[in-house]
Amino acid sequence: MNFTVLTLFPEFVSAFFDHGMILRGIEKGLITGACINIRDFAQDRHKTVDDKPYGGGSGMIMKPETLQAAIVHAKKNQPESKVLLMSPQGTPFNQEKAGDMASKKQGLIFVCGRYEGIDERICTSLIDEEISIGDYVLTGGELAAMTLIDSIARLIPGVLGSCESSKSDSFSGHRLEYAQYTRPEVFEDMEVPQILLSGNHEKIRYWRKKSALQRTFLKRPDLFDKTSPGDEEKQILKQWCRELEKIVRE
Ligand code: ADE
Repeated sequence: MNFTVLTLFPEFVSAFFDHGMILRGIEKGLITGACINIRDFAQDRHKTVDDKPYGGGSGMIMKPETLQAAIVHAKKNQPESKVLLMSPQGTPFNQEKAGDMASKKQGLIFVCGRYEGIDERICTSLIDEEISIGDYVLTGGELAAMTLIDSIARLIPGVLGSCESSKSDSFSGHRLEYAQYTRPEVFEDMEVPQILLSGNHEKIRYWRKKSALQRTFLKRPDLFDKTSPGDEEKQILKQWCRELEKIVRE
């Protein structure tokens, strides 16, 4: 899967492609990562990429000719790729969207705006989808593009090592991930739950399911609206209720 980022700060994004899991995915030939400097497509000798907004107002707007040339150049090598604009006005990004994009394997071209935004005519003519990573405003789209690439790439089979897995990720099946522990067995008087040391796989599976449900209930109860509890989950939640009632009665 190809990821191409159109940005005014290519060094910022290429550092991301040069590290960790993303670099591993590139080295394994499972993904590619490229940065295109939008300024290289500026059409005057001052390399101007922005201009004042028509109608007045503060801030600068990214010029359409420059962005168009950069997008056309990116698409030339990969005409099937989807062009995404990183914008706080876009569709909210989530784990489900990451999964959809990873499974389609369609190349993605990320347009990262700076300044007050980009000329609306580019949105109309060249952008396939606008995506937001949350209800807050960043100074540019680069962090958003890297967020998307990171979460999509790790879902591509083989990118995560055999020891890592995305199956029990938080949000998969609209539940948070269970609590995790590593050595030492006792840390600052806090012990690892004994079941995790028992070697009993069924009991460990059940404990983890219960932990995931408890964390979801306490931290993100809204996720139950997206997928209501299944039979085993209901049984676990009822048992938890009984345990809580017992504590309250004591
Ligand atoms: N650019 C600026 N803010 C953004 C956001 N919240 N999401 C995506 N791109 C952005």
